[in-house]
Amino acid sequence: MKTPEERVRQLPQLMRLLALLAVAVALWAVVVLVQLYGPPAPAPVVAADEAHEGPPPPGSYHRPATPAPDTATIPRTAAGREIRYGRELVARTAAYLGPQGRVGHYTNGMNCQNCHLQAGTQGFANNYLAVAATYPKLRARSGTVEGIEKRVADCMERSLNGRAVPASSREMRAIVAYIRWLGTGIPKGKKVYGTGFVKLPYLARAADPRIGQAVFATKCQSCHGPEGQGQALADGRGYQYPPLWGPASYNDGAGLFRVSSFARYVKAAMPFGASFDHPQLTDAQAWDVAAFVNSQPRPHLPTPHDWPDISKKPVDHPFGPYADNFPATQHKFGPFQPIEDAHPQLRPR
Ligand code: HEC
Ligand code: HEC
Repeated sequence: MKTPEERVRQLPQLMRLLALLAVAVALWAVVVLVQLYGPPAPAPVVAADEAHEGPPPPGSYHRPATPAPDTATIPRTAAGREIRYGRELVARTAAYLGPQGRVGHYTNGMNCQNCHLQAGTQGFANNYLAVAATYPKLRARSGTVEGIEKRVADCMERSLNGRAVPASSREMRAIVAYIRWLGTGIPKGKKVYGTGFVKLPYLARAADPRIGQAVFATKCQSCHGPEGQGQALADGRGYQYPPLWGPASYNDGAGLFRVSSFARYVKAAMPFGASFDHPQLTDAQAWDVAAFVNSQPRPHLPTPHDWPDISKKPVDHPFGPYADNFPATQHKFGPFQPIEDAHPQLRPR
């Protein structure tokens, strides 16, 4: 038992302990307050470093893309032979329709499959699964109702920088037969999951060709070549690696010439081997490399009749006139959100 005197003697020690505790609490409070209200950490500098970021973690998409029907089910009939020929034309277009094509010279040395991966069946790599169910449809680019033939002809004239085979030709009928067969069992009007491109959030800044150049050097150049010229096949009938710019590439009237289309395509498809559920580029890398590639020289296609209603032009259509006062460079590289906000009717539904 402690006497009352002993307790009194211990008092200063207790006070010291309490004082120490109070100081500790005060210090902790200062640290917390500085974190909450102190000067913000400096914003990360947008530097070429962004170009060298590692791949994003996979698995943001858990749902498999709608599969194409099995080619083994193509019937062994005349109709089946036409479908198979259509598939062959999509996969090896240049061998039939390219500069040395055995049918004739209609298109450049590229194949439909260069952009519509795996003969137009790979999920979110620009596949054709929705085409049979959604065409004919009104397209704002032409302002007219387009059938599948017109849409294929468009890609021959723009993406393949050539001229279209006639609508009545064996080749056009075969390509359309193949595209229709891919839509087997898909109800009219339904856009199945996995068609077209992935959604890609806008960057808060403009896409930057200088950062994109560094992305190109580290992630694309090994296949597509230092001048983006690609790598031709030994027999000259097409490419091992298709060109990304220059005289043998898609022209400036093509869908890929829009920075958003290019970015959304490569996000889910490039470098070759990437897929929508295992992308290899960050969102920023996809936007910046799109800005770089689409700043390089390529064939020009005059398209004075495109977008007859200018208020329907996509936010990133790179050619005026525009229904707003945003500068042309912002329409090409962004930032796109302010443009979209000014045109609610353009917001994707
Ligand atoms: C350089 C790349 C490229 C090549 C080569 C290419 N296309 Fe395309 N194609 C695109 C892009 C990009 C789109 C989507 C464009 C858009 O809607 O803005 C598209 C869209 C289409 C569509 C409409 C798809 C839909 O769901 O609405 C069809 C059909 C099509 N292409 C067929 C073909 C055929 C057939 C060939 C070969 C003769 C071909 N394309 C070659 C890039 C290409
Ligand atoms: C490992 C080789 C390889 C790498 C690396 C690669 N690609 Fe490709 N790329 C290909 C091949 C092969 C095709 C054609 C696919 C086919 O025909 O099946 C292609 C097609 C394309 C196309 C459509 C056709 C065209 O030429 O316009 C674009 C666009 C493209 N690549 C962009 C890129 C970008 C951007 C990068 C870097 C981020 C990249 N690629 C990295 C091999 C590669």
